[in-house]
Amino acid sequence: MVKVNSNYGKLPGSYLFSTIGKKVNAYQAANPDKKVIRLGIGDVTRPLTPTIIGSLHGAVDEMADAATFKGYAPDLGYDFLRHAICEGDYKSRGCDISDDEIFVSDGAKCDSGNIQEIFGLDNRIAVCDPVYPVYVDSNIMAGRGGTYNPETGMFSDIIYMKCLEENGFAPELPTEVPDIIYLCFPNNPTGATITKAELQKWVDYANEHESVIIYDAAYEAYISEADVPHSIYECEGARTCAIELHSFSKNAGFTGVRLGYTVIPKDLVRDGVALHGLWARRHGTKYNGAPYIIQKAGAAVYTPEGQAEIKGLVDYYMRNASYILNGLKDAGFSVSGGVNAPYIWLKTPDKMTSWDFFDYLLNEVNIVGTPGSGFGPSGEGYFRLTAFGSYENTVEAVDRFKNIKL
Ligand SMILES: Cc1ncc(COP(=O)(O)O)c(C=O)c1O
Repeated sequence: MVKVNSNYGKLPGSYLFSTIGKKVNAYQAANPDKKVIRLGIGDVTRPLTPTIIGSLHGAVDEMADAATFKGYAPDLGYDFLRHAICEGDYKSRGCDISDDEIFVSDGAKCDSGNIQEIFGLDNRIAVCDPVYPVYVDSNIMAGRGGTYNPETGMFSDIIYMKCLEENGFAPELPTEVPDIIYLCFPNNPTGATITKAELQKWVDYANEHESVIIYDAAYEAYISEADVPHSIYECEGARTCAIELHSFSKNAGFTGVRLGYTVIPKDLVRDGVALHGLWARRHGTKYNGAPYIIQKAGAAVYTPEGQAEIKGLVDYYMRNASYILNGLKDAGFSVSGGVNAPYIWLKTPDKMTSWDFFDYLLNEVNIVGTPGSGFGPSGEGYFRLTAFGSYENTVEAVDRFKNIKL
C-alpha cells in the first residue's frame, strides 16, 4: 500500500499567502466597487529595466538561430554569469569567493527550501521567530521538526530565536547550540538588520560550535547604512561556516522570470565532507539549469547600465518604504524596518491580534497587509506592510492609515 510523506500532515494550516489571497478575493468579489490597495505579498511591481530587457531580447534571437542556439544549460550555471556574480557581488566587496563556488538557480525560494536536503535528519535547526516560512516548512516536510504544539505554535525540535522589540528584532546567540542556523538580513518580515560586528559574532559562534549558518541575503540591495554587511563573507571566518542565498527578485525585479544563486565555499566541511560537493551533486541530479535567456538577463544586471537601472528600482521602492515608515509614525503607529529593507513592521493598535487587524484593514480601510503571526508565534500582534506597490497607491494607503479612528 502506498504511504504518503506523513510529515506534510504536521504543517499547520495552509500557506500564509493563499489564505490571504482567498480572503482578499472574497472581499473584492462581494465589493467590486472598492479599491483595495495591496501592500501584502512581497512581489515587485516595476517592469524589468531596458538593459535587462535588451539582453533578454538578444538571447531570444540567439535561440532562433542554429549557430547560437543553446540547449540544456550547465547544471551549475553559465560561466559568464557565475563570473559576473563573483566580480559584482563578492570581489568588489573584498570577499574571498571564486566563480566555481557559485551555483546558479531559479531563485532563493527553491534554494532555501532545498538546501536542507544535504544535511542529516538528526540535525537541529534554529530559526528567527518571526521567520520567512520556507525555512521551517521545508524542514518539517523532511521530518526534522518533531511535534507541533498548537498552543505555542512551535515544533518541539526547532530552536526558535525570538526577535522582538526588546532586542531590536535581532536574534540573540542561542544557549542551546543548533546545528543549522537560518539567518536573513535585511530581514523578511521585520525589515531589521544587524551590523557587521554583530554578524561576526554569529560567524565566530558557528565556527566555535561547528554549526552551519544559512544566510539569506535576498534583500541586500536595500541596505542603505554603511555598517550593515551585504554578504556574510565580509566577516572573517565565514568561508568555514556559511552558505549564502541570493535572489534576483527583489534587487532587479526578476520575480516573474526567476533567477537566484547559492554560494558554498569549498572550505565548508562538516562531518568530514565538503558541502560544496554535496550541493553540486544535488543540483546536478535534480536541476537542469536556469534558462540561457534568463541567465543572459541576469548578466546584464552587472553591467554599469544595469547597475544604475536597478539602483533606480530599489530607490523607487525605498521612497515608498520611507513614506510608509514616516507616515505611520506620524499617525501614531509603532513602526520599524523600512530603512535597509522594503518591509515595514508595525505593532497592531489596541493589542489587536494580527489577523483581527488584517480583517479590519481589509474590510474597513481596504488595505491588504500580512499578519505578523503568519511568520511565527512572536509575530503575533505585529503586521507587515511592503514598499513594493506603486508610489501613488502607497501615498493613498498612508492617507487612509492617517484617517483610522480606532
Ligand atoms: C527571505 C526571502 N528569501 C527568499 C525569497 C524568495 O526569493 P525568490 O523569488 O528568488 O525565490 C523571498 C521572497 O519573498 C524572501 O523573502
